[in-house]
This record gives sequence, structure tokens and C-alpha cells, in this order.
Amino acid sequence: MVRENMVQAEKKKIGFEKWWQNAVIYQIYPRSFQDSNGDGIGDLQGIISRLDYLGTLGVDAIWLSPVCRSPQDDNGYDISDYQDIDPMFGTLKDMEELISEAGKRGIRIIMDLVLNHTSDEHPWFVEAKSGRENPYHDYYVWRDGDPKTPPNDMKAGFGGSAWEWSPEAGQYYFHQFSAKQPDLNWDNPKVRQEIYQMIRWWMEKGVGGFRLDVIDQIAKVPDERITNNGPMLHTYIRELSRETFQKGDLVTVGEAWGATPDLARLYSSPDGTEFSMVFQFEHILLDQQEGKEKWDLAPLPFLKLKEIFNQWQTSLYQCGWNSLFWDNHDLPRIVSRWGDDKRYRTESAKMLATLLHGMQGTPYIYQGEELGMTNVRYSIEEYRDIETLNLYRERMEAGYEKEDVMASVYAKSRDNARTPMQWDNGIHAGFTDGIPWMKVNPNYQEIHAAAQVGVPGSVFEYYRRLVALRKEYPVLTDGRFLMLMEKDEQVFSYLRENDQCRMLVICNFFGNPVECALAEEWDQEILLIGNYEDREAGVLKPYEARMYLEKAGNNRETVL
Ligand code: GLC
Ligand code: CA
Repeated sequence: MVRENMVQAEKKKIGFEKWWQNAVIYQIYPRSFQDSNGDGIGDLQGIISRLDYLGTLGVDAIWLSPVCRSPQDDNGYDISDYQDIDPMFGTLKDMEELISEAGKRGIRIIMDLVLNHTSDEHPWFVEAKSGRENPYHDYYVWRDGDPKTPPNDMKAGFGGSAWEWSPEAGQYYFHQFSAKQPDLNWDNPKVRQEIYQMIRWWMEKGVGGFRLDVIDQIAKVPDERITNNGPMLHTYIRELSRETFQKGDLVTVGEAWGATPDLARLYSSPDGTEFSMVFQFEHILLDQQEGKEKWDLAPLPFLKLKEIFNQWQTSLYQCGWNSLFWDNHDLPRIVSRWGDDKRYRTESAKMLATLLHGMQGTPYIYQGEELGMTNVRYSIEEYRDIETLNLYRERMEAGYEKEDVMASVYAKSRDNARTPMQWDNGIHAGFTDGIPWMKVNPNYQEIHAAAQVGVPGSVFEYYRRLVALRKEYPVLTDGRFLMLMEKDEQVFSYLRENDQCRMLVICNFFGNPVECALAEEWDQEILLIGNYEDREAGVLKPYEARMYLEKAGNNRETVL
């Protein structure tokens, strides 16, 4: 206890007070992490059995993608009972055990709250669709019409109309995702109260926080074609936060595809009235054609990437908080996306990690990222994701070339991130004794945890060191961010500084070497981490990354 108080006091002095500001969070996609009973699907006991692995990595919290009861139309993002665990994953008792076992290792559990919609099999919806007189009817968003003419032409996230005719209700209901994910009506105070009660119930179970699925879409106004950032959004979020999160010491992260730095200052205001932070996707949306869908591929505009990170880092400094991520269960693997998953897989995975983990904010590691796991190229029958399968069908029907459709799928399918975790080179990569729900990436023979944990030079050990550095050097948490070499077409470099010290991150983002005076200059300082053993001071090798700490007492000006 005394030690804890000292740590707190020390943290106050250097300007951060919340545990999550110095935390690293690991995301688990439960169905693909570890199966414990041979049914081919990852589960809670499987996660428990791998907690020591996460302890070794040194993370502070686990964000669990949804494990509540669900028909699994969208792999759990369609919840039919918020207060029970899906039998596929285990029981409430398993969940309690996970919370307590993780707690013993200093790891908190973050639940995924899907509050924009439920499953159409949720008892609320089953009641609601029985007719307009039903007390639950107004829990969802209904419009009159005839079965052939939807109220308007809005499209759903996974293809098709956002309106589904319910013969039972004799009305249309609104759904921003699949037809099995009807949108909740947040304008109804009863809906909001039910949700708050449910959240408080999970808080009593000792969860460490929540990730809020598509939270910027809850205040939709379909008649005006408004999906995210509806006029009531922040009113609802503040009420939600007041009624729930503010009663505990939680981390909360809202998923907000429509966030801008200005909005993020609201969402993550240090006064704690909304969330701890949001996931924003500006950097993630860069490699697609403007105004089109993610499937419409375009090369990454590197200077723009730098500009966006710079903007987010500087505009939230001391008045908000960033989340730092490359990967999640909806995104392709970063090493395949913006690194080189062949010749320089290890180097580029480490470079991308350095670039991200040197910034201000809370870093997220998505399962397998710490091993440098890669995208897959399967035949279409082997994909499982509803979004991918719908896209394939729609584009083939619209007359696209199969080759082009598959190129989009290889590059952007969410299943790239959902293949089973690669633990060892045994059958199915140690993920299951049964038949895995989705095929394991064939490269598991080479890329797996057993070949990396404790092995110097591995991607895993590199991540482990990055996590440790965040604990050792407060400047990583509280330091100001200053972008360097802004117009350089190949090098990504920035400074972090607080009253005590300065740190430099310098990365060659590409696969050809580059001469770099700044790298040479800083090579007199202390190298904290780098991805090449044989360093040539003034030349950055393919995907080379270095993080330097300035020696104490050196007040030399940096050449920009
Ligand atoms: C979020 C989730 C995604 C899900 C969608 C609908 O974007 O991350 O996996 O399909 O919301 O709930
Ligand atoms: Ca299982």
C-alpha cells in the first residue's frame, strides 16, 4: 500500500494521474485466442490458461471482444443477453474467474459494450416486434411504410438497406449493421436506464473498464440520414458516464469512426465527463480512394499519415487523451498493410511498433500483433466474416472482376485479424485440438509464440521491451510531442520532451536504406531500443527504427 501511494505521488509530480494513462492494453478476440475444450472455438478458460503469456508481455489490461450471449451473426456484436456469457465461451463463473485470475497478475478486464444495437433475438426485440402496443416497441427505431418501399435509401454497414420490414410488426425497423442487429432507440429514457443498470451490474463484478462499440452512432436521426455525431450524442454520453463509469476507477474507450481532434477533446476531456479516450480512424482510412469504400484500394499517402498523427498528438496534449493502435479485429494486419510481411517482416513489425509506442496516449496491442502475425489469402469459401461475404456477393453481382474483388478481400477483410492465434508449430498452431472455426494461417509453422517468447531479437521480445519502456520513462506518458522532418518522404521522426528529458524516435518507413543526419547526430545519445544489431549511425537500413534518450545535462538544440 505504502509503495502504491509513493507511485501515485510520483506520478502526480510528473503530470499523469490515471492508471490508464500509463497503461498498455491488449485486445483479445475470444473466439480466436485459445480453445480449451476442443470445439474449435476460443473460450474464457482458454484465455485463463494464457494469462501468464500476457503477464510476460507486461500489459495492464485486456479488452475482450464481446463474450455475452449472442446468436453470433456478427461474432458476438449482436447481443441477446447482456448479463450472461455465451455458452460457446463459458459461463458467468468462468468470467468471474477470469477477472480474478487476471487481477492476481495485475491485469484488468475491459468488456466490450455493444449499446447501439442488440440482436434481433434479444427479448426486448422479440417483444418490440410483436406490435406497436407492446411496451418494448419503442426500444427500437420503427417507421411506417409498405413492404416494397423502405422509408429512405440509407444503407446498412454490412450491405443492403438499413431498413428491414418486419411482417409481425407491420413496420420497418432501422439497423446500421446487419438485419439481425436492430438499432436501439436512445431517445427513449427507459432504454438508457436499462443500459445503465446493466453496466453497473458489470462494474460490481469488478471489470476494469469498457470499450464502447460504435458509440458515436447511438444518437442517429434516420429521417435526416444522420448516423454518427447526432445532435444528442454528447448529452447521452455524459448521462451514460455520470450514471455509470464515474462511479468507479475505470478506463473507457469509445469507438468513434466520425471523430475529429475537436470532437475527441470532448470525448476525452480530462474533467472525466465522457470517456477516457476514443478510437479514431483517420490514419486507418488513408489507404482507400477518397469518398469510396475501404475495399477501393489506394496507396498510403505517407506525408498525410505524418500530418494526421501530428495533428492528433498536438491537439490532445493536456486537454484530451489519445488511443494508439494499428490493428484490431476489424482491420488487416499492420505488418502486411504498411510493412513488408515477407523479406522484412520482423524489421517492419518492430518499426511500426516503435513508431506507435513512442507517442502519447494509451497503446493497444491486438492479439498476434506482438508476434508479427500477417494477413491471409484464402479462397472465398474459407472466409467467415459477414461483411466480407456480403461484399463478395454484392460486387460479384455488380459485375466486378473476381480477381479485383479478391484483391480487396486480401487487403482489407476483417478475417485477416481473426485467424486463430499462433501459439506453437503443433497441429492448428496450438489453438485447438479440434477443428478450428476458421483456418489457421499456414505460416504458423514459422510464426508462433513458442519461437519468440524469451528469444532475443524476436518481435515478441521487442514489444515486451516497448511495454517496459513506458513504465520506465514517464516522458513517454507525459511528454510533449514534436514532429520532425515533416516533409521528408521516407523518415518518420519525432521528439518527446518533458521537464526532465528528451527522447527521439526515428523510423525509416520503407524498404530501402536512407541517409539521415538526424539519426547520426542522435547516435551520441543513449539508444533505448532499435531493430538492427549492426547500426550505421547516419544510415537508416530498411525499416530501421531507433528510440534515443538524450544524455542528462545535454541541452543541445536539435537540428530539425
Ligand atoms: C464495431 C465492431 C465491429 C462490429 C460493428 C457492429 O465496428 O468493432 O466488429 O461488426 O461495430 O457492432
Ligand atoms: Ca471452446
